[in-house]
Amino acid sequence: MQQRVFSGMRPTGRLHLGHLAGALTNWIKLQNDYNCFYCIVDWHALMSDYADTSSLKSNCGEVLLDWLASGLDPEKCTIFIQSHVPQHAELHLALSMVAPLGWLHRCPTYKEQILNLQNKDLSTYAFLGYPVLMAADILLYKAEIVPVGDDQSAHLELTRELVRRFNSFYGSVLLEPQIMLTPTPKVPGTDGRKMSKSYGNSIYIADEPAVMWEKIRTMVTDPARERRTDPGDPDKCPVWDLHKVFNNDEQEKAEIDRGCRTAGIGCVECKKKLLVHVERVMGPIREKRSSYEKKPGLLMDILREGAAKAADTARRTMDEVMDAVG
Ligand code: TRP
Repeated sequence: MQQRVFSGMRPTGRLHLGHLAGALTNWIKLQNDYNCFYCIVDWHALMSDYADTSSLKSNCGEVLLDWLASGLDPEKCTIFIQSHVPQHAELHLALSMVAPLGWLHRCPTYKEQILNLQNKDLSTYAFLGYPVLMAADILLYKAEIVPVGDDQSAHLELTRELVRRFNSFYGSVLLEPQIMLTPTPKVPGTDGRKMSKSYGNSIYIADEPAVMWEKIRTMVTDPARERRTDPGDPDKCPVWDLHKVFNNDEQEKAEIDRGCRTAGIGCVECKKKLLVHVERVMGPIREKRSSYEKKPGLLMDILREGAAKAADTARRTMDEVMDAVG
């Protein structure tokens, strides 16, 4: 029997190259060797964006398109939307009975988000319970493995502690999942900071070639290289970081590295070379995305079948939970 993998993504809009090079690439590999459940966690998005839900539904659609275009295959893994499987909400409630307030208040991501997202009022009952819902997501499928970034490790630890506490009350019903830390290559945005939607520095999976070029063309480079005749330092250049992710031509990379350090190649030329490699990867993805976009019926089928498959497992776990709790 294949081991079960569960992971989720919040539908906050279109995905960018950082998502692709990090989580998605890893998820796509895993779908060949594990029984993978990949969930668009719309309830989690609602926890921070409850005040304006106008783009929630369309964001779910964008994430689905980006996933399918990048190579998640509904024949190989289960793709679904969290709210389509009501057991997520049900197990969340059951777990909340044994979730100590202290654990939730002490959760580092909670404190951090409250401080960082000052424009949103996150002092809600639901937001405090964010990790409890995340635990429910994972535990419903008795997932052994949860591939996530480092930023989620506190949530995984809390999940494991909740399992131990729940099982100590009601018997061993739930399974402690293991974290699988996703290797995350450095993917800077156009301003050199980490690529992130909130920084406005992202290159999106769905961006047209002209848009991608405009973003790459105006991307910051080694700030010490002011003129074409100044030598540069690739190690201080965000464009070079993208070469490392997308450029698979080792000889060309060696030439660029040397050219930059000796002022033999200019930044625009280097960026043009980068665009070629980005396009090699993104061209087919963009094509696949637009072909899926033209088939809304197929997308609905994928989500319906995904939810049905997920619900089979979720229902079974929830039956055991109800039994155990009495
Ligand atoms: N909290 C995760 C994030 O923000 C998303 C998420 C929700 C998740 N439920 C999950 C990830 C379950 C892994 C497993 O990235």
